[in-house]
Amino acid sequence: MSFPIKYLLSLGAAGFLLGQWACTQPLTESTAAQLVEENRRALPDTSGYERRAPQDPNGISTYYMGRQIAHVMGHEGAGWLERTDRQQEEGTDILLRELKLKPTDVVADIGAGTGYFTFRMSSLVPKGKVLAVDIQPEMLAALRETTEKRHIHNVVPVRGTTDNPNLPAKGVDLVLIVDAYHEFDHPREMMRAIRNSLTPTGRVALVEYRAEDPKVAIKRIHKMSVAQVRREMAAIGLRLTDSVETLPQQHLLFFQK
Ligand SMILES: C[S@@+](CC[C@H](N)C(=O)[O-])C[C@H]1O[C@@H](n2cnc3c(N)ncnc32)[C@H](O)[C@@H]1O
Repeated sequence: MSFPIKYLLSLGAAGFLLGQWACTQPLTESTAAQLVEENRRALPDTSGYERRAPQDPNGISTYYMGRQIAHVMGHEGAGWLERTDRQQEEGTDILLRELKLKPTDVVADIGAGTGYFTFRMSSLVPKGKVLAVDIQPEMLAALRETTEKRHIHNVVPVRGTTDNPNLPAKGVDLVLIVDAYHEFDHPREMMRAIRNSLTPTGRVALVEYRAEDPKVAIKRIHKMSVAQVRREMAAIGLRLTDSVETLPQQHLLFFQK
């Protein structure tokens, strides 16, 4: 055997023995963490989330299923939610009618804000109730104040977190989300929890400005297309069962399990 071949063979044998020895050594914490991270990177990411530089400064650096998530509207903008021309501008009376609520319904208003829809729905469900969920304590304080001032007994303010609306399991007939879904920073977790809160015939009514319509003068990041909404709902097992396109600027889309 020539020298270089002998040399290569002994190098191979040494490598094999070294590998055997390494396999029998206990893993240190940092090696284990490194292996977990390597495995995580090797697997395809099915969560739908992605972190990248914000394309639009009105959004955060998290993208969900290709869509940049918008910043949460701060409580400082509460006055805008209660503007006097809102009914005419957004056709809110049409929206409320199209919800087809029954007097006994339990409704959840997610991202309720000041309660523009909460209080209008409360009179439509006199034998039921409205769970008004928000993550901002200032919005919940405003909700509580109105509830007390108007002696309303079927509105329950609920403090949610960014990934959990804290709703009762299988107890909600209709979940209404107006102009809030596009700013959920954990949309998948929120919608999974919302899905679990629905009764077997429960519905989700999602209202978002129409991205397909250039005449709707709202920043792109605050609009959504039907195709995008359907994709995101399908990802957590909700299917489109009805849609109303008679509102001046928004889609009203109904989803069920
Ligand atoms: C643009 S406002 C809309 C308020 C109300 N739906 C309306 O149309 O008058 C959006 C609201 O959603 C709330 N919000 C954002 N992310 C939320 C989350 N993960 N859970 C509950 N509320 C959320 C914000 O705090 C804010 O009050």
